[in-house]
Amino acid sequence: MSQPLTAVPTRALAGTIRVPGDKSISHRALILGALATGRTRITGLLEAEDVMATAKAVEALGARLRRVNGSVEVTGQGVGGLRAPAEDLDFGNSGTGSRLMLGVVAGHDMEARFTGDASLRRRPMARVLKPLQRMGLSLDDEARTTFPLTIRGTPDLVPIVYSLPVASAQVKSAVLLAGLHAPGRTTVIEPIPTRDHTERMLTHFGAELSVKDEDDGRRAVTVRGDAELTGATITIPGDPSSAAFAIAAALMCEGSDVVLEGVLMNPTRTGFLDTVRDMGGDVELLDLRLEGGEPAADLRVWASALRGVEVPPERAPSMIDEYPVLAVLAAFAQGETRMRGLAELRVKESDRLAATAAGLMACGVETGIEGDDLIVMGKGSAPGGGLVEAQLDHRIAMAFLTLGLGAEQPVTVDDIGMIATSFPAFVPLMTKLGAQFR
Ligand code: S3P
Repeated sequence: MSQPLTAVPTRALAGTIRVPGDKSISHRALILGALATGRTRITGLLEAEDVMATAKAVEALGARLRRVNGSVEVTGQGVGGLRAPAEDLDFGNSGTGSRLMLGVVAGHDMEARFTGDASLRRRPMARVLKPLQRMGLSLDDEARTTFPLTIRGTPDLVPIVYSLPVASAQVKSAVLLAGLHAPGRTTVIEPIPTRDHTERMLTHFGAELSVKDEDDGRRAVTVRGDAELTGATITIPGDPSSAAFAIAAALMCEGSDVVLEGVLMNPTRTGFLDTVRDMGGDVELLDLRLEGGEPAADLRVWASALRGVEVPPERAPSMIDEYPVLAVLAAFAQGETRMRGLAELRVKESDRLAATAAGLMACGVETGIEGDDLIVMGKGSAPGGGLVEAQLDHRIAMAFLTLGLGAEQPVTVDDIGMIATSFPAFVPLMTKLGAQFR
């Protein structure tokens, strides 16, 4: 049953919140914990449906999870030590969990069937399967490239050098995780650096990993196989992709003054903040520090007069999940915002390029798609008043509820059910800042 929700135009937002733990790091902490020997203690794990699907999958493969005083403890089985699952591995809506786990299962002598919800079953898996098949993974049906997929791994993977055809941290991570199980060195070369949580965490767990930046902007990451990982302690900072909604709402709602505590500031994730600042957004970084090997800070955000900007394509990987809410924010700027090079948005939880443009139009905002670029004509305000289709996409739902807070008329999202996949506390936390929903 669908769950509609309406965001009501709100005046100033105020107060302090802490957004939940980073989703990308949460998946990786569970997976590396399962591949390590001994115990891994995770504090700040995101307890949302996507991450819980990964938790269930690692348990089905033999890792043990338990709660200890607000932390999650994983007892791992060592690299290559997982066992075949008795049932299908169902990843729900989660592209990240499923793609990373394809790399893990690839290195084990087992067969597993991967599946997910209607959105995940539409998403392309060939990008991960191709390099993994070169390493030795086999498929039950060679012609299939979408879930459900039955795969067979092997303990005799071969190491490869792989140049990513698209800038994707998920593909990079799947190959690196498989590389742990292959003798020798596996190298992934990315056209533009993408989020590097897998690399940081592998190093933290004791893997031998090196990173080389080429003169042309490419980055080569090499991991040594037959690795031994040792259980570790991990503290997960707040998810900047979740923080982006509160930041956007504070910037656009007149008189706002909001503090977000403990937000991840990894430079491969800060493209949204860079763009907001280019637009004239008033965001102050307080107390930049290291939290569990990752940079984090408190952010203070004030309502700001914004101007339209051009967002270069090479910035896309560092803010790939923030485009829907940036497009919403661009409506509240003066002038045109052109977001360039967004082809990858077409293969997210929905076709986010189309879903974002459709949502903006439903809210009376002038917008267009030219090739892979998204253009928004900012007028300093947005009419709102529309009904937006979330299209099984949590970030489309949250972006347009955010629009409704700053608009002239309320905005209704047809189904907010998917918000639980990444940010179950979205409505209560925004309400704490003064937002109104009905
Ligand atoms: C993620 C990588 C990105 C991002 C996703 C999380 C990750 O996907 O959109 O939400 O944790 O590695 P791609 O690697 O497909 O760009």
